[in-house]
Amino acid sequence: MDLDNYLLKKSTEEEISSIVKSLADAAIKISTIIRSVKTQEDVSKTDTKINFDGDIQKPLDISSDEIIISFLKKSPAAGYASEEQEGHIDFKNNNDFIVFADPLDGSSNIDVNVSIGTIFSIMSKNNLPLEKAFIQNGSNQKSSGFFVYGPQTTLLITVGAGTSLFALDELQGKFILIRDNIVIPETTNEFAINAAYKRYWDCATLKYISECQDGESGPRKKNFGMRWVGSLVADASRIFNRGGIFLYPADMREKYKNGRLRLTYEANPIAFLVEQANGVATDGHKNILNLEVNELHQRSPLIFGSKEEVLEYKKLYSKL
Ligand code: AHG
Ligand code: MN
Ligand code: MN
Repeated sequence: MDLDNYLLKKSTEEEISSIVKSLADAAIKISTIIRSVKTQEDVSKTDTKINFDGDIQKPLDISSDEIIISFLKKSPAAGYASEEQEGHIDFKNNNDFIVFADPLDGSSNIDVNVSIGTIFSIMSKNNLPLEKAFIQNGSNQKSSGFFVYGPQTTLLITVGAGTSLFALDELQGKFILIRDNIVIPETTNEFAINAAYKRYWDCATLKYISECQDGESGPRKKNFGMRWVGSLVADASRIFNRGGIFLYPADMREKYKNGRLRLTYEANPIAFLVEQANGVATDGHKNILNLEVNELHQRSPLIFGSKEEVLEYKKLYSKL
């Protein structure tokens, strides 16, 4: 089944379907650019910039953002907010749905041929002015998903009726359904965290990881393995496939005292997909989808994945 028929089957509202299809077309274009041959000379000609928020911006971050905007302009989207732009864009129509995106997730993996992706989220304006519409809680999402540009180009999506996986058939230029109603296994013995930041962690994170590392002879009485790609989309893909827990907690670095990942562009869309697949996504205290959004580029801790492990982490966190 292709994406068009899937959206029909799930009785997705027409405007949402149309926006999702535009995002899929944008992703096909981004995927083609990523796969095109670039010489070392081409790469060194393009420079890296710093965005309004002090984050490194690579040329592909910017061009992915521009590609998404060009496709959304032709869709019924009312507005767009992105990790790469300070404020939102108003498409100046009276339509209902707004789009959030991390146009290129995993920037640091761009030049090393490791999976990167595009994350998106769609909400109703709920009759609010655009500035207010863009700071609604994640529980208002109507659809979310992410594309991965890896060995295959894939799309993991929810329209609020389960989480489904598609892969791009490059010959047909269409996304084809591979798995419907994905369920994240409740138990796992794999964790994902950037352990280089150990010295900045809170006590709950330190205890949780050290108990995993203690393996069979420790309190968890089982051995764990660790994976960290460094692209949220790739780490999440693995977890939707075979289970696992992902942790990017807040830490003691001044810039990341509220977490590193963005609530609206990263944590909310991933959390919606996770909840639709029987997993849990939390900031340690609360479900991500219940967090209040106060500003567009707000950061948040993000811990998600297999239920048993995320609840174990939450238990330690509640004792802080
Ligand atoms: P982005 O490239 O959109 O800024 O996001 C990168 C994120 C995420 O993909 C990944 O999980 C995390 O940053 C990795 O952070 P560290 O480099 O701190 O490990
Ligand atoms: Mn990102
Ligand atoms: Mn990004």
